[in-house]
Amino acid sequence: MPRPTTRHLCTQCGHAEAKWHGQCPGCGAWNTLEPQRGAAPAAGPHRPAARAGSPRRLRDVEEVRLRRLSTGLAEVDRVLGGGLVPGSLVLLGGSPGIGKSTLTTMALAQLAAAGRRTLYVSAEESPAQVRLRAARLGSAALDIPILAETSLATVLATIEAERPEACVIDSVQTLHAEDGTGAPGSVGQVREVAGQVMRVAKSGDTAVLLVGHVTKEGALAGPRVLEHLVDCVLQFEGERERTYRTLRALKNRFGSVDDVGVFEMRDSGLVEVLDASARFVGEATRAPGSVVLAAMEGSRPLLVEVQALVSESELVPPRRVVSGIDRNRLALVLAVLARHAGVGVGAADVFVNVVGGVRVDEPGADLAVALAVAGAARGVPLSGPGGGPLACFGEIGLTGELRSVAHPDRRGAEAAKFGLTPLLDPERAATLRDAVRVAVPRPSAAPAAAA
Ligand SMILES: Nc1ncnc2c1ncn2[C@@H]1O[C@H](COP(=O)(O)OP(=O)(O)OP(=O)(O)O)[C@@H](O)[C@H]1O
Ligand SMILES: [Mg+2]
Repeated sequence: MPRPTTRHLCTQCGHAEAKWHGQCPGCGAWNTLEPQRGAAPAAGPHRPAARAGSPRRLRDVEEVRLRRLSTGLAEVDRVLGGGLVPGSLVLLGGSPGIGKSTLTTMALAQLAAAGRRTLYVSAEESPAQVRLRAARLGSAALDIPILAETSLATVLATIEAERPEACVIDSVQTLHAEDGTGAPGSVGQVREVAGQVMRVAKSGDTAVLLVGHVTKEGALAGPRVLEHLVDCVLQFEGERERTYRTLRALKNRFGSVDDVGVFEMRDSGLVEVLDASARFVGEATRAPGSVVLAAMEGSRPLLVEVQALVSESELVPPRRVVSGIDRNRLALVLAVLARHAGVGVGAADVFVNVVGGVRVDEPGADLAVALAVAGAARGVPLSGPGGGPLACFGEIGLTGELRSVAHPDRRGAEAAKFGLTPLLDPERAATLRDAVRVAVPRPSAAPAAAA
């Protein structure tokens, strides 16, 4: 019999240590190691005798066609790689109030309307609360069977009895496994819950959507330990007070992780924004400090407006405020603008915003940020070839050169759809100085449009 021992598990990353440490050696977080009692894992000479398995050639393994359940939400299906796969476990992470319950309820409503057996397990809200939301989402949502329960054993027994084709568990952190250690939401519990749910999902061919909360720092708390276990990890992002939310896959065993779905929160629930570029371009102001960025959201091109404001500052050091881009990237762009393109904003406050609450985390955004700041600093409106907004993309190198980025053709095609070509890109301007000269002429110079 293995001797019972105490291990210390990190509540952030699940790292195990024999002794307690103030800082987790796994992820570097402080005060996250918690004692867990349990049997020591069997090892070495104590390993029980087992019969050897018989490996087969892959060619001899019977072929299965992957079936997919359509959630009826085109953007969700796309991010999943074509729909929910029966028997798979999908983890949906997002910060509080972002709309996880709304999204999963809408998906189940569509599945129920298509004649699929569904089940909504709410371990957080009462049936009355869930009904209130469902009523907002339309009458199809009222047909979803709900189970308000926090006991994992009861939930699993219900799934086995009802055998739903699609099931939502909201949330993995509030379910309680009777035989697991620790409080609900702790690493031990979350792992136990997910492991047992997975067994039932696979045996009953049920597609399970596990909802998980995200910490303030943006990491999937607790559920990080589940990323290896589940088939697909979806991240629902956006700022609560903004309209647009994005859904992206961080991991997907049945499809690519490149696709992104864009949604808008309305009274009637989340509405898919299929023509996101049209929205953002239509709203572009064309005032000094505004430029259109031909960005890539995964494999999907997206046109977004980048705005900058440069104003005199009373503060030392002046303010650098960003929304939707990385603050350090702005510092780099400002340094290169000053050193290599003759646009110095050293003593001024600089604000940069990607309109619509979209976040662009790609080097291709550099040129748009630089041109928006240059336009704002000089008070010059940037206009494109047809008199419309100027669209651009490109990475800025430390020596002031413009560097090419991925998918120039797709970015160009998206801009062409809205008559914003030719784009200002590394093909047309070799350096940031050239790009600024073309797009942001000094106010005294001839008011030539970017050509
Ligand atoms: N009548 C309404 N009109 C528009 N938006 C609404 C309305 N009611 C709620 N919302 C939006 O829905 C959000 C809550 O959605 P939901 O409950 O699905 O989020 P959640 O991610 O499940 O939250 P939690 O972390 O609390 O479980 C609110 O933050 C609000 O933005
Ligand atoms: Mg919720």
